[in-house]
Amino acid sequence: MSKISAAITAVGAYVPEYILTNQILETMVDTNDEWITSRTGIKERRILKDEGKGTSFLAIQAAKNLINKKGIDPKDIELVIVATATPDMKAASTASYTASEIGATNAFSFDMDAACSSFLYGMSVAASYIESGRYKNVLLIGADKMSSIINYKDRATCIIFGDGAGAVLFEPNTENLGFQDEYLRSDGTGREFLQATYGGSSFPITHEAMDEGGQYAFQEGRTVFKNAVFNMADAAVKILERNNLTKDDVNWLVAHQANKRIIDATAQRIELEEEKVMLNIHKYGNTTSATLPLLLSDYESQLKKGDNLIFAAFGGGFNWGSIYLKWAYN
Ligand code: UT7
Repeated sequence: MSKISAAITAVGAYVPEYILTNQILETMVDTNDEWITSRTGIKERRILKDEGKGTSFLAIQAAKNLINKKGIDPKDIELVIVATATPDMKAASTASYTASEIGATNAFSFDMDAACSSFLYGMSVAASYIESGRYKNVLLIGADKMSSIINYKDRATCIIFGDGAGAVLFEPNTENLGFQDEYLRSDGTGREFLQATYGGSSFPITHEAMDEGGQYAFQEGRTVFKNAVFNMADAAVKILERNNLTKDDVNWLVAHQANKRIIDATAQRIELEEEKVMLNIHKYGNTTSATLPLLLSDYESQLKKGDNLIFAAFGGGFNWGSIYLKWAYN
């Protein structure tokens, strides 16, 4: 019997309608379009404004988009994973609600959080369930409402992040397409440089903390930047070396969209031509768990069966890594 690999067989996406441009941010904090564009590559990001709607709203829309495009019966989905750093609530999983709302009533479901690497790690988990033969339809959704943890008075974070969601379906494949290899790492000593300190179990939220914006994500941008550049590029190099791939074997770099300079540095390190680097940071900013599936959605029409895709991500924690996947359909 041939080996079972885990292939992505469908993609879906959703971004909210409201567009927060650099020009609007200029009226909110001391910044300007030239600074944001040259330092990050971001021109605009999407924000979910509707009261009472959380990350599940984004996840549900992306999943419905996939279900409609692929024409699958949601009752056939066996597992729903929502990769997110901004769950709807502290208790009650976002994935369970999402699964019910999309009609995946035969599925079990759970959330996964590894900050900006949530979707990358989620790919590893989803693929493992398929490769083991336990399940045949795993829906992995990357969704974040970053605007819910951003301080719109802090110019070091509010210019970067946006809201969005993307979804992929993993199914078994016997042609050796799909998931090939992974190199995943974590270093908890990095958590002081990017965190939302209050509101968790170490430091429950207090009035005093809220007065100082302690519930919002804070980052020491320069330190995160340096670690992201080094580790994302290093992981991509390692995955190429381990699989005896040269730059000519790579069709696409699918890199976390946190800062165009980090993406460029990763591409340069593996000597990849610009036209092989997926890019949409100018439209959406950093949507945390949604960046990778939003790229797949934007570039889906250009992908060909057998294409070699190198995924790479870096995020708070720190968590980072790279995955090698062969695309499974035209
Ligand atoms: O998804 C994973 C997690 N996040 C990341 O990967 C983000 C990684 N970090 C970055 O992308 C960058 O560090 C930032 C975009 C956050 C900042 O860019 P930078 O080139 O590292 O700037 P910096 O923090 O070194 O600041 C340079 C200057 C400072 O002014 P002085 O001290 O030189 O006078 C900042 O105060 O730019 C100033 N600055 C700004 N100026 C205009 C910082 N933010 C802004 C701003 N507009 N929004």
